[in-house]
Amino acid sequence: MSKNEILKILEENDGFVSGEEISGKLGVSRAAVWKAIKLLRQEGYVINSRTNRGYKLESSPQVLDCGLIGGMQTDSSVQVVCVKSVDSTNNALKKMALDGAPEGMVLVADHQTSGRGRLGRSFVSPKGKGVYMSILLKPEFIGDIAGLTCMTAVAVINAIEKIAGTTLDIKWTNDILLAGKKLCGILTELSTEGESGGVRFAIIGIGVNVNQEVSDFPPELREKACSLYSAHGVMQDRNRIAGEIVLRFFDMYRSLKENRRKVMSEYRKKCVTIGNIVAYTRDGKQLRALAETVDFEGALVVRKDNGQLDKLRFGEVSIVS
Ligand code: BTN
Repeated sequence: MSKNEILKILEENDGFVSGEEISGKLGVSRAAVWKAIKLLRQEGYVINSRTNRGYKLESSPQVLDCGLIGGMQTDSSVQVVCVKSVDSTNNALKKMALDGAPEGMVLVADHQTSGRGRLGRSFVSPKGKGVYMSILLKPEFIGDIAGLTCMTAVAVINAIEKIAGTTLDIKWTNDILLAGKKLCGILTELSTEGESGGVRFAIIGIGVNVNQEVSDFPPELREKACSLYSAHGVMQDRNRIAGEIVLRFFDMYRSLKENRRKVMSEYRKKCVTIGNIVAYTRDGKQLRALAETVDFEGALVVRKDNGQLDKLRFGEVSIVS
């Protein structure tokens, strides 16, 4: 029995089909049917299962289409490439950049086998469920880099709020939250010249959880992460989400010099870290302080108990209260 035979049965029925009926038709055990359903879900099929009713195919995985994503762009330097599977879009785009790819190259993958997050963490990237993409920039000055992650967070939020009609928050520096759970992460990586230390290129990696079911997240992440689908129960068009993010990203990037204040003020409005007591580590010591603001450079400005200000430029903070 192949899982395709089960898929065919589900596709031919609008409603629920019982596990018993499927196993009877195909002459296999109910356990084998369950195993095949699990495999289909891993491929991106959304299959509803109900006790006493069986299985119902809700939706099939949507194919990422670089024509659709690219067609939404107004900036002629943007070039979108889609791949089925890659270790990490940041790694793959870095190789493309070293081979001469120009600024504006965007690599989108349907699946990442080793998606990376900040601080050496991994980013779970199941097939056909999320938007995993990286954007290549070649800024002239290092000054263009500061606050780039903040700008990306604002572009991503604006895009997703528009498409999914939801309200999102930012946890400094780079986590986008939906109702307190992580929906999207951003990983900015710079490649510098050996001698001069100047920036050769920057890669901005964006991972959005779009159509994942709760079971697509490992158990330890289920309380901390969510997708648009797991939160709202509505499947979203990944091409539209990717296209809208890239559109807003380049729109902001091209005018960042003039609009930097506006972007940072939008960032602060969305940043739930501000106004809270945060815990962080400095020189091996665990500290607590009040997060007062995020400065023009994207650093978190905190006020310690002794009244002194501290600036956190990267690393992890947790919100205590
Ligand atoms: C984080 O949450 O710490 C950042 C996660 C960034 C994930 C994206 S997915 C596309 C790109 N490729 C990667 O390997 N990582 C980024």
